[in-house]
Amino acid sequence: MTATVGLLEYCDPRDWSVHHFGLPAERWNALAGKVFWVTGAGTGFGAAIATILAVAGGRPVLTGRRREKLEETREAMRGLGVDPASVTVLSCDVRDEVQVAGAADEIANRFGILSGLVVCAALPQSRSTPWPLADLRRENWQSLLDSNLTAPWLTARAALPLMLGTGQARVLLLTSEAGWAGTPGFGPYNVSKAALNSLGASLAAETAARHPAADVQINVLNPGEARSEMNQGSTVSPYTAVAATLALLSHPPGGPNGRFFARDGRHLEFAYSKAWEKSLLP
Ligand SMILES: NC(=O)c1ccc[n+]([C@@H]2O[C@H](COP(=O)([O-])OP(=O)(O)OC[C@H]3O[C@@H](n4cnc5c(N)ncnc54)[C@H](OP(=O)(O)O)[C@@H]3O)[C@@H](O)[C@H]2O)c1
Repeated sequence: MTATVGLLEYCDPRDWSVHHFGLPAERWNALAGKVFWVTGAGTGFGAAIATILAVAGGRPVLTGRRREKLEETREAMRGLGVDPASVTVLSCDVRDEVQVAGAADEIANRFGILSGLVVCAALPQSRSTPWPLADLRRENWQSLLDSNLTAPWLTARAALPLMLGTGQARVLLLTSEAGWAGTPGFGPYNVSKAALNSLGASLAAETAARHPAADVQINVLNPGEARSEMNQGSTVSPYTAVAATLALLSHPPGGPNGRFFARDGRHLEFAYSKAWEKSLLP
């Protein structure tokens, strides 16, 4: 088995109570009451994922730099029946170690625990030159790697102790096809996503080795193309990545760790990591 069948990639989020994105009732219900930290939650995939976690009765914590975007996401959730009081908004620049630690402290103070982390915050490739590996300025390279690699590491490092306090950890890093590609014009972005893939595999292995009794599931999702701030040319809804995200966040013990998935249910390989061999759904 190298795929999960039954994830509803294309469905109307307004009909969530009918389809639950393809999740069986016990998996959908498992999300209720859980605290999930979603970075980059003001727009795009992060906003869609945070919204549906709230719809499922979870208590998402939305972070991003622009508080007004986070508030917009929270306000829009009313349209799907969410009480905004169940949603926490914290502005946080995830490149800044002090701000990330501050957000983790705030989550610890408010909730005492954390059930999962979904890392969506990232920057796209700057299109200032078609040959970025030859011509890009050093500060642009640094900014991309700070945002797409160092920030996910800082966030996961701060979040893991809160999750492991519950004996389990569910972490999802949003990568891109770019992490497997060498497309001209996107070199630094490709490098940042390949390194993010490696971070996911290594963090999963290290955390499981250090905490052998804990239920550690740290995985990487390629969300595919969708309309967002960084991809305004797409007509695809960012809700397309919700089903795969929920299947991974709601997985019972014994699930994948250090594995790679696509939003349509394909199980991927990366470097020495083989495709997960069981379905993500029962
Ligand atoms: N859309 C696509 O077609 C596509 C395809 C493949 C992969 N992806 C991946 O999907 C993920 C989500 O992207 P998206 O498409 O949803 O793009 P998006 O709408 O541009 O979302 C990125 C979010 O990251 C936040 N962010 C960026 N830098 C930050 C920082 N330093 N601190 C805190 N937040 C920061 C931004 O909010 P603030 O500016 O307010 O901080 C923004 O809300 C990314 O990892 C992206 O690489 C997207």
